[in-house]
Amino acid sequence: MRILLYRADGNTAPWIKDFADLMPEAEVVVWREGVGEIPACDYAVLWTPPQSMLADLARVKAIFLTGAGADAIMKYSQAIPPHIPIVRLNDAGMGMQMAEYVTHAVLRYFRRLDEYEAQARAGAWLQLEARDKADFTVGVMGVGALGTQVIEALRPFGFPLRAWSRTAKSLAGVECFHGEDGLDAFLGSSRVVVCMLPLTPETVNILSRSNMQKLPQGAYIINVGRGPHISDPDLLPLIKSGHIAGATLDVFRNEPLPAPHPFWEEPRITITPHISALTLRRESIEQMVGKMRQHARGEQVADVINREKGY
Ligand code: NAP
Ligand code: GLV
Repeated sequence: MRILLYRADGNTAPWIKDFADLMPEAEVVVWREGVGEIPACDYAVLWTPPQSMLADLARVKAIFLTGAGADAIMKYSQAIPPHIPIVRLNDAGMGMQMAEYVTHAVLRYFRRLDEYEAQARAGAWLQLEARDKADFTVGVMGVGALGTQVIEALRPFGFPLRAWSRTAKSLAGVECFHGEDGLDAFLGSSRVVVCMLPLTPETVNILSRSNMQKLPQGAYIINVGRGPHISDPDLLPLIKSGHIAGATLDVFRNEPLPAPHPFWEEPRITITPHISALTLRRESIEQMVGKMRQHARGEQVADVINREKGY
Protein backbone atom coordinates (compact mmCIF):
# COMPACT_ATOMS: atom_id res chain seq x y z
CA MET A 1 0.00 0.00 0.00
CA ARG A 2 1.33 3.43 -0.92
CA ILE A 3 0.23 6.60 0.90
CA LEU A 4 0.64 10.10 -0.52
CA LEU A 5 1.37 12.56 2.29
CA TYR A 6 1.04 16.34 1.96
CA ARG A 7 1.53 18.78 4.80
CA ALA A 8 1.30 22.52 4.22
CA ASP A 9 3.78 23.10 7.06
CA GLY A 10 6.31 20.73 5.47
CA ASN A 11 6.70 18.88 8.78
CA THR A 12 6.44 15.36 7.41
CA ALA A 13 9.14 13.45 9.35
CA PRO A 14 7.08 12.68 12.51
CA TRP A 15 4.13 11.63 10.35
CA ILE A 16 6.32 9.23 8.35
CA LYS A 17 7.68 7.79 11.59
CA ASP A 18 4.24 7.26 13.16
CA PHE A 19 2.87 5.70 9.95
CA ALA A 20 5.88 3.35 9.93
CA ASP A 21 5.06 2.31 13.54
CA LEU A 22 1.32 1.94 13.07
CA MET A 23 1.14 0.72 9.46
CA PRO A 24 4.44 -0.99 8.64
CA GLU A 25 2.97 -2.49 5.46
CA ALA A 26 2.58 1.03 3.94
CA GLU A 27 5.10 3.13 2.02
CA VAL A 28 4.66 6.88 2.60
CA VAL A 29 5.44 9.15 -0.36
CA VAL A 30 5.76 12.87 0.42
CA TRP A 31 4.39 15.44 -2.05
CA ARG A 32 5.65 19.01 -2.05
CA GLU A 33 4.54 21.80 -4.31
CA GLY A 34 6.74 21.93 -7.41
CA VAL A 35 7.88 18.32 -7.06
CA GLY A 36 6.03 17.29 -10.21
CA GLU A 37 5.03 13.72 -11.08
CA ILE A 38 4.62 11.38 -8.16
CA PRO A 39 4.11 7.62 -8.26
CA ALA A 40 0.58 6.25 -8.17
CA CYS A 41 -0.70 6.00 -4.59
CA ASP A 42 -3.60 4.19 -2.95
CA TYR A 43 -4.52 6.81 -0.36
CA ALA A 44 -3.81 10.49 0.22
CA VAL A 45 -3.34 12.03 3.67
CA LEU A 46 -3.67 15.82 3.82
CA TRP A 47 -5.87 18.66 4.98
CA THR A 48 -5.51 21.80 2.83
CA PRO A 49 -4.39 20.70 -0.63
CA PRO A 50 -3.11 23.31 -3.07
CA GLN A 51 -4.84 23.44 -6.44
CA SER A 52 -1.74 22.02 -8.16
CA MET A 53 -2.26 18.74 -6.29
CA LEU A 54 -5.74 18.03 -7.59
CA ALA A 55 -4.69 15.97 -10.59
CA ASP A 56 -2.85 13.55 -8.28
CA LEU A 57 -5.78 13.44 -5.89
CA ALA A 58 -8.13 12.42 -8.67
CA ARG A 59 -6.15 9.15 -8.97
CA VAL A 60 -6.19 7.87 -5.37
CA LYS A 61 -8.73 5.41 -3.94
CA ALA A 62 -9.62 7.59 -0.95
CA ILE A 63 -8.55 10.85 0.67
CA PHE A 64 -8.01 11.01 4.44
CA LEU A 65 -8.18 14.45 6.03
CA THR A 66 -6.00 15.27 9.01
CA GLY A 67 -8.73 17.56 10.35
CA ALA A 68 -12.40 17.41 11.32
CA GLY A 69 -13.52 20.17 8.95
CA ALA A 70 -13.58 19.49 5.22
CA ASP A 71 -14.10 23.04 3.93
CA ALA A 72 -10.51 23.46 2.65
CA ILE A 73 -10.87 20.53 0.26
CA MET A 74 -14.57 20.96 -0.47
CA LYS A 75 -13.85 24.16 -2.34
CA TYR A 76 -12.14 21.93 -4.93
CA SER A 77 -14.63 19.09 -4.68
CA GLN A 78 -15.64 19.33 -8.34
CA ALA A 79 -12.09 18.35 -9.31
CA ILE A 80 -12.26 15.21 -7.17
CA PRO A 81 -14.43 12.50 -8.74
CA PRO A 82 -17.43 11.67 -6.53
CA HIS A 83 -16.49 7.98 -6.27
CA ILE A 84 -13.36 8.95 -4.28
CA PRO A 85 -14.36 9.08 -0.62
CA ILE A 86 -13.11 12.07 1.37
CA VAL A 87 -12.84 10.86 4.95
CA ARG A 88 -12.57 13.32 7.83
CA LEU A 89 -11.33 12.84 11.39
CA ASN A 90 -14.02 12.04 13.91
CA ASP A 91 -12.97 13.34 17.32
CA ALA A 92 -9.48 11.74 17.49
CA GLY A 93 -8.86 13.67 20.73
CA MET A 94 -10.41 16.94 19.49
CA GLY A 95 -13.65 16.62 21.46
CA MET A 96 -11.84 16.79 24.80
CA GLN A 97 -9.81 19.79 23.64
CA MET A 98 -12.97 21.58 22.47
CA ALA A 99 -14.63 20.78 25.79
CA GLU A 100 -11.65 22.30 27.64
CA TYR A 101 -11.49 25.40 25.45
CA VAL A 102 -15.20 26.22 25.36
CA THR A 103 -15.78 25.47 29.05
CA HIS A 104 -12.87 27.75 29.90
CA ALA A 105 -14.21 30.55 27.68
CA VAL A 106 -17.75 30.24 29.10
CA LEU A 107 -16.56 30.18 32.72
CA ARG A 108 -14.10 33.02 32.15
CA TYR A 109 -16.94 35.22 30.93
CA PHE A 110 -19.52 33.95 33.44
CA ARG A 111 -17.20 34.50 36.43
CA ARG A 112 -16.12 37.89 34.96
CA LEU A 113 -12.49 36.79 34.97
CA ASP A 114 -11.84 38.86 31.85
CA GLU A 115 -12.82 41.94 33.87
CA TYR A 116 -10.79 40.83 36.89
CA GLU A 117 -7.74 40.33 34.62
CA ALA A 118 -8.12 43.93 33.39
CA GLN A 119 -8.61 45.17 36.95
CA ALA A 120 -5.51 43.35 38.16
CA ARG A 121 -3.45 44.92 35.37
CA ALA A 122 -4.70 48.31 36.59
CA GLY A 123 -3.98 47.44 40.23
CA ALA A 124 -7.67 47.66 41.14
CA TRP A 125 -9.35 45.58 43.91
CA LEU A 126 -13.07 45.55 43.26
CA GLN A 127 -15.65 42.78 43.69
CA LEU A 128 -18.17 42.73 40.85
CA GLU A 129 -21.73 41.46 41.14
CA ALA A 130 -22.18 37.75 40.44
CA ARG A 131 -24.02 36.89 37.22
CA ASP A 132 -27.31 35.05 37.48
CA LYS A 133 -26.96 31.48 36.23
CA ALA A 134 -30.70 31.04 35.63
CA ASP A 135 -30.66 33.34 32.60
CA PHE A 136 -27.09 32.53 31.52
CA THR A 137 -28.17 30.28 28.66
CA VAL A 138 -25.44 28.69 26.56
CA GLY A 139 -26.39 27.77 23.00
CA VAL A 140 -24.21 25.46 20.93
CA MET A 141 -24.51 25.66 17.13
CA GLY A 142 -23.54 22.27 15.72
CA VAL A 143 -23.88 19.26 17.97
CA GLY A 144 -21.95 16.62 16.09
CA ALA A 145 -18.81 14.76 17.14
CA LEU A 146 -17.37 17.83 18.92
CA GLY A 147 -20.43 19.86 19.91
CA THR A 148 -21.98 17.00 21.88
CA GLN A 149 -18.80 16.72 23.97
CA VAL A 150 -18.92 20.45 24.67
CA ILE A 151 -22.54 20.12 25.82
CA GLU A 152 -21.57 17.25 28.14
CA ALA A 153 -18.66 19.25 29.56
CA LEU A 154 -20.90 22.27 30.27
CA ARG A 155 -23.68 20.21 31.83
CA PRO A 156 -22.27 19.89 35.40
CA PHE A 157 -22.08 23.69 35.78
CA GLY A 158 -25.85 24.01 35.56
CA PHE A 159 -26.17 26.56 32.74
CA PRO A 160 -29.46 26.28 30.85
CA LEU A 161 -28.31 24.64 27.60
CA ARG A 162 -29.53 25.09 24.02
CA ALA A 163 -28.47 23.30 20.84
CA TRP A 164 -29.02 24.00 17.17
CA SER A 165 -28.40 21.52 14.37
CA ARG A 166 -29.53 20.82 10.80
CA THR A 167 -31.66 17.80 11.74
CA ALA A 168 -33.76 17.30 14.88
CA LYS A 169 -31.95 16.09 18.00
CA SER A 170 -32.97 15.02 21.47
CA LEU A 171 -30.38 15.64 24.20
CA ALA A 172 -31.43 15.13 27.81
CA GLY A 173 -31.83 18.45 29.62
CA VAL A 174 -31.00 20.51 26.51
CA GLU A 175 -33.54 22.58 24.60
CA CYS A 176 -32.92 21.52 21.01
CA PHE A 177 -33.69 23.57 17.89
CA HIS A 178 -33.01 22.69 14.29
CA GLY A 179 -33.06 24.04 10.79
CA GLU A 180 -33.81 27.54 9.55
CA ASP A 181 -37.19 27.47 11.29
CA GLY A 182 -35.56 26.92 14.67
CA LEU A 183 -32.76 29.46 14.28
CA ASP A 184 -34.47 32.64 15.51
CA ALA A 185 -35.79 31.01 18.68
CA PHE A 186 -32.36 29.47 19.33
CA LEU A 187 -30.54 32.79 18.85
CA GLY A 188 -33.09 34.74 20.86
CA SER A 189 -32.58 32.50 23.88
CA SER A 190 -28.77 32.06 23.80
CA ARG A 191 -26.94 34.46 26.10
CA VAL A 192 -23.68 32.78 25.04
CA VAL A 193 -23.52 31.34 21.56
CA VAL A 194 -20.83 28.81 20.67
CA CYS A 195 -20.31 28.23 16.95
CA MET A 196 -19.10 24.68 16.24
CA LEU A 197 -20.53 24.33 12.75
CA PRO A 198 -18.81 23.06 9.62
CA LEU A 199 -18.33 25.75 6.98
CA THR A 200 -20.73 25.11 4.10
CA PRO A 201 -22.72 27.34 1.73
CA GLU A 202 -25.58 27.15 4.28
CA THR A 203 -23.50 28.18 7.29
CA VAL A 204 -21.23 30.87 5.83
CA ASN A 205 -22.09 34.20 7.55
CA ILE A 206 -24.55 32.42 9.83
CA LEU A 207 -23.62 35.02 12.44
CA SER A 208 -24.55 37.86 10.11
CA ARG A 209 -25.45 41.30 11.43
CA SER A 210 -29.17 40.48 11.47
CA ASN A 211 -28.64 37.11 13.20
CA MET A 212 -26.29 38.62 15.80
CA GLN A 213 -28.95 41.26 16.46
CA LYS A 214 -31.34 38.43 17.35
CA LEU A 215 -29.09 37.41 20.26
CA PRO A 216 -30.14 38.85 23.64
CA GLN A 217 -28.68 42.20 24.68
CA GLY A 218 -25.20 41.63 26.15
CA ALA A 219 -24.70 38.24 24.47
CA TYR A 220 -21.24 36.69 24.22
CA ILE A 221 -19.92 34.86 21.13
CA ILE A 222 -17.44 31.99 21.04
CA ASN A 223 -16.36 30.94 17.54
CA VAL A 224 -14.41 27.72 17.19
CA GLY A 225 -16.00 26.72 13.84
CA ARG A 226 -14.55 28.77 11.00
CA GLY A 227 -13.87 32.48 10.50
CA PRO A 228 -16.42 33.01 7.71
CA HIS A 229 -19.22 31.95 10.04
CA ILE A 230 -19.10 35.50 11.45
CA SER A 231 -19.54 38.69 9.51
CA ASP A 232 -16.38 40.50 10.69
CA PRO A 233 -17.36 44.08 9.83
CA ASP A 234 -20.63 43.70 11.75
CA LEU A 235 -19.17 42.24 14.94
CA LEU A 236 -17.20 45.31 16.04
CA PRO A 237 -20.08 47.84 15.83
CA LEU A 238 -22.30 45.40 17.73
CA ILE A 239 -19.63 45.14 20.45
CA LYS A 240 -19.15 48.91 20.54
CA SER A 241 -22.91 49.43 20.87
CA GLY A 242 -23.01 46.94 23.78
CA HIS A 243 -25.42 44.56 22.05
CA ILE A 244 -22.63 41.98 22.02
CA ALA A 245 -20.59 42.02 25.24
CA GLY A 246 -17.53 40.40 23.72
CA ALA A 247 -16.20 37.39 21.87
CA THR A 248 -13.65 34.64 22.08
CA LEU A 249 -12.47 33.89 18.56
CA ASP A 250 -10.23 30.98 17.59
CA VAL A 251 -10.82 31.07 13.83
CA PHE A 252 -10.67 33.87 11.26
CA ARG A 253 -11.39 34.59 7.61
CA ASN A 254 -7.68 35.07 7.01
CA GLU A 255 -5.28 33.04 9.10
CA PRO A 256 -2.94 34.09 10.56
CA LEU A 257 -5.15 37.04 11.54
CA PRO A 258 -3.27 39.90 9.85
CA ALA A 259 -1.80 42.81 11.74
CA PRO A 260 -3.16 45.39 11.70
CA HIS A 261 -6.70 44.09 12.14
CA PRO A 262 -9.28 45.88 14.32
CA PHE A 263 -9.92 42.67 16.29
CA TRP A 264 -6.40 42.91 17.77
CA GLU A 265 -7.25 46.35 19.17
CA GLU A 266 -10.58 45.43 20.80
CA PRO A 267 -10.05 44.33 24.44
CA ARG A 268 -13.46 42.64 24.53
CA ILE A 269 -12.27 40.20 21.84
CA THR A 270 -10.05 37.35 22.98
CA ILE A 271 -7.99 35.88 20.14
CA THR A 272 -6.35 32.47 19.91
CA PRO A 273 -4.51 31.12 16.83
CA HIS A 274 -6.81 28.25 15.72
CA ILE A 275 -5.86 26.00 18.62
CA SER A 276 -9.17 25.11 20.23
CA ALA A 277 -8.74 21.54 18.94
CA LEU A 278 -5.38 20.64 17.46
CA THR A 279 -4.84 17.55 15.34
CA LEU A 280 -3.22 15.01 17.64
CA ARG A 281 -0.90 13.13 15.29
CA ARG A 282 -0.77 9.73 16.92
CA GLU A 283 -4.54 9.52 17.60
CA SER A 284 -5.29 10.75 14.10
CA ILE A 285 -2.97 8.28 12.38
CA GLU A 286 -4.43 5.43 14.45
CA GLN A 287 -7.91 6.42 13.28
CA MET A 288 -6.83 6.79 9.65
CA VAL A 289 -4.95 3.47 9.63
CA GLY A 290 -8.05 1.67 10.93
CA LYS A 291 -10.16 3.20 8.20
CA MET A 292 -7.57 2.56 5.45
CA ARG A 293 -7.44 -1.11 6.39
CA GLN A 294 -11.26 -1.26 6.33
CA HIS A 295 -11.30 0.38 2.92
CA ALA A 296 -8.61 -1.97 1.60
CA ARG A 297 -10.75 -4.93 2.74
CA GLY A 298 -13.69 -3.49 0.84
CA GLU A 299 -15.59 -2.55 4.02
CA GLN A 300 -17.69 0.53 4.65
CA VAL A 301 -15.70 3.44 6.10
CA ALA A 302 -17.30 5.95 8.51
CA ASP A 303 -17.03 9.75 8.37
CA VAL A 304 -17.07 10.08 4.59
CA ILE A 305 -17.98 13.66 3.65
CA ASN A 306 -21.42 13.91 2.11
CA ARG A 307 -20.71 15.90 -1.04
CA GLU A 308 -24.23 17.37 -1.11
CA LYS A 309 -24.29 18.51 2.50
CA GLY A 310 -20.64 19.61 2.36
CA TYR A 311 -19.67 18.06 5.70
P1 NAP B 1 -19.84 17.09 12.72
O1 NAP B 1 -19.74 15.89 13.59
O2 NAP B 1 -20.05 16.90 11.26
O3 NAP B 1 -21.04 18.00 13.30
C1 NAP B 1 -21.51 19.09 12.60
C2 NAP B 1 -22.76 19.63 13.28
O4 NAP B 1 -23.15 20.82 12.60
C3 NAP B 1 -23.93 18.67 13.21
O5 NAP B 1 -24.68 18.72 14.40
C4 NAP B 1 -24.76 19.24 12.05
O6 NAP B 1 -26.15 18.97 12.12
C5 NAP B 1 -24.52 20.72 12.25
N1 NAP B 1 -24.79 21.45 10.99
C6 NAP B 1 -24.18 21.33 9.80
N2 NAP B 1 -24.76 22.14 8.88
C7 NAP B 1 -25.75 22.78 9.53
C8 NAP B 1 -26.73 23.72 9.13
N3 NAP B 1 -26.81 24.17 7.86
N4 NAP B 1 -27.60 24.16 10.04
C9 NAP B 1 -27.57 23.71 11.32
N5 NAP B 1 -26.67 22.80 11.78
C10 NAP B 1 -25.78 22.34 10.88
O7 NAP B 1 -18.55 18.02 12.88
P2 NAP B 1 -17.54 18.12 14.11
O8 NAP B 1 -16.53 17.04 14.04
O9 NAP B 1 -18.33 18.28 15.35
O10 NAP B 1 -16.77 19.47 13.73
C11 NAP B 1 -17.49 20.68 13.57
C12 NAP B 1 -16.60 21.75 13.02
O11 NAP B 1 -15.70 22.22 14.01
C13 NAP B 1 -15.67 21.36 11.87
O12 NAP B 1 -16.36 21.27 10.64
C14 NAP B 1 -14.65 22.48 11.89
O13 NAP B 1 -15.12 23.56 11.09
C15 NAP B 1 -14.64 22.90 13.35
N6 NAP B 1 -13.37 22.55 13.99
C16 NAP B 1 -12.57 23.56 14.45
C17 NAP B 1 -11.39 23.26 15.09
C18 NAP B 1 -10.53 24.34 15.65
O14 NAP B 1 -9.43 24.08 16.12
N7 NAP B 1 -10.99 25.59 15.66
C19 NAP B 1 -11.00 21.92 15.25
C20 NAP B 1 -11.83 20.93 14.78
C21 NAP B 1 -13.03 21.25 14.15
P3 NAP B 1 -26.72 17.47 11.98
O15 NAP B 1 -26.28 16.80 13.28
O16 NAP B 1 -28.17 17.65 11.90
O17 NAP B 1 -26.06 16.89 10.78
C1 GLV C 1 -9.47 22.10 12.54
O1 GLV C 1 -9.84 23.22 12.39
C2 GLV C 1 -10.15 20.94 12.05
O2 GLV C 1 -11.15 21.10 11.32
O3 GLV C 1 -9.71 19.83 12.37
